[in-house]
Amino acid sequence: MTKPGRAEIDQIAEATIAALRAPSILNTQPWRWQLSSAHAELWADRTRQLPGLDPDGRLLLLSCGTALHHAMVALRAAGFTAHVERRPDPARPDLVARLRRGPSAPPDDELYRAIYQRRTDRRPFADEPPTAAVVEELRMAVERHAVHLYAVPPGELTAFAAAVAHASAVEYDDAGMRDDVLAWTTRTRDDRDGVTPRSVTPPGRRTIAPRNLSPARPSALAPGPGQDRGTVYAILVIDTDEPRDWLAAGEALSDVWLTLTARGLAASPISEVIEVEPVRQALRRHFGGVGFPAIALRIGVPVTGADPVPPAVRRSGTDVIGLP
Ligand SMILES: Cc1cc2nc3c(=O)[nH]c(=O)nc-3n(C[C@H](O)[C@H](O)[C@H](O)COP(=O)(O)O)c2cc1C
Repeated sequence: MTKPGRAEIDQIAEATIAALRAPSILNTQPWRWQLSSAHAELWADRTRQLPGLDPDGRLLLLSCGTALHHAMVALRAAGFTAHVERRPDPARPDLVARLRRGPSAPPDDELYRAIYQRRTDRRPFADEPPTAAVVEELRMAVERHAVHLYAVPPGELTAFAAAVAHASAVEYDDAGMRDDVLAWTTRTRDDRDGVTPRSVTPPGRRTIAPRNLSPARPSALAPGPGQDRGTVYAILVIDTDEPRDWLAAGEALSDVWLTLTARGLAASPISEVIEVEPVRQALRRHFGGVGFPAIALRIGVPVTGADPVPPAVRRSGTDVIGLP
């Protein structure tokens, strides 16, 4: 086996740096990278798991999946495919993936650029819906990971809104769940994680109320004039409900989110309906018991002239990436 060159290691390191920008539940950034001479290992950081909202670690693994996919996108922008071994060691389940540089491929930086443009946009979107062609493209982005996209049809929106409202009410009544939200929305500047009021918006005018992610302080992002009438609600559906599927759903979430960003659309996830088990089971029954909902996402056209959402803070590479 030839010794990997300096450039190869640098490219993998750069990919892990790009992956710092990956979205995660409550911006917990529950991962750690360890570089070695020829590859990077992605580890789940269980100290950042949410005991109330995410006792099984499904949202933690979804978040790790977004980081993994971001790193793969960055490698592709450098002109390489990624060679990934997912959950390679049954004895060490927190070793999420091992990432190596694969054979070279034509550089593609469209999704890479989207890494730095993407934000969680919780504001109501415009009345104009995303085109059917783009929704089809998003479906294909998700299917690349053997995950399926179910676009909630207009006739089912009221039921979906009721499911979201019910999940929110359950979370409000549950001290453990409430504590998680409070803990991760009141982090200090030095922590460089968590959700801050400047990326959270009051409800504005819309059918599906946004999650209250600023319980301790007033939210500071103006909702703007949108009314969410063109918004598409999509559910990512997995075939089985195992950790490997949660990881795949995270990769699919990253892929669909970067793709829609590259097309000028915006999105924000809705994970309450997954966190509250009876609601998750009710959604599953809705699909006739076939497939499992992994996460929901609202997708829309930003209102014309809307200011960009400020970028959410991230931990630094020195905190997250271990050198060889
Ligand atoms: C698995 C997962 C679940 C999330 N759930 C929600 C949610 O229910 N509501 C919400 O507003 N944002 C949700 N988010 C978005 C995160 O809060 C967001 O990614 C994080 O705060 C970082 O901000 P950014 O995406 O703008 O970089 C979720 C993200 C992930 C990856």
